[in-house]
Amino acid sequence: MEPEFWIKRWETGDIGFHRDEVQAGLSEFWPQIAQNTETRVFVPLCGKSLDMRWLAARGHSVLGVELSAQAVEAFFENERLEPELRREESFSVYSAGPFEIWCGDLFQLPEGVLANVSYFYDRASLVALPPDMRAKYARRLGEVLKPEVSGLLVSLSYNPAEMSGPPFSVSKVEVEKLFGDRFAIDLLSERDALAGNANLIKRGLTGLVETCYRLR
Ligand SMILES: C[S@@+](CC[C@H](N)C(=O)[O-])C[C@H]1O[C@@H](n2cnc3c(N)ncnc32)[C@H](O)[C@@H]1O
Repeated sequence: MEPEFWIKRWETGDIGFHRDEVQAGLSEFWPQIAQNTETRVFVPLCGKSLDMRWLAARGHSVLGVELSAQAVEAFFENERLEPELRREESFSVYSAGPFEIWCGDLFQLPEGVLANVSYFYDRASLVALPPDMRAKYARRLGEVLKPEVSGLLVSLSYNPAEMSGPPFSVSKVEVEKLFGDRFAIDLLSERDALAGNANLIKRGLTGLVETCYRLR
């Protein structure tokens, strides 16, 4: 997916992936993943996710990365925060309160930025990427995160013959292939997620499974 694809989706309001509620797997599993809440959480491809608010309310500081300035600005507006803005290499960095969001391409993120991250949270991020970029994404996370970093991955799988992504279907086998060399992977939950995704039913899906993994 080219950056323009996502920028356009934000511009046209085609953001069916955005949720007005906190991700159920986050509130259910995060407490067992991150006991130390005075730490920084990396949220790649963060959009304007309200999950960042939830993480901050637990005490974390949040480091997001997002391509669309519109998404980043909407996030701060929703939080009623006026962010400070600075330039860092190819990024515009917005910060206010516990939030710092780097607006630009994740794959260009300077390595040092993640030095003090303790956890990561991926919901609808891996599955937003086509296969070659998923491999690049997993490699990049492995390279830039310190060995002790652990995280929560919320992934989706469905019959790929029914719909083309994004979101892409990412099987358990693929998750193992992508992250298995670098992380121990615990399967936390698998649930039928079709009913809550009317936009994907319209696109032809007749089955959708949401899977939560702990990566450590
Ligand atoms: C499917 S959305 C998920 C957003 C968020 N995680 C959520 O749960 O609402 C994927 C997001 O990733 C952003 N994105 C896609 N490719 C990116 C990249 N290379 N670097 C940074 N952000 C990217 C898109 O603009 C979009 O907001």
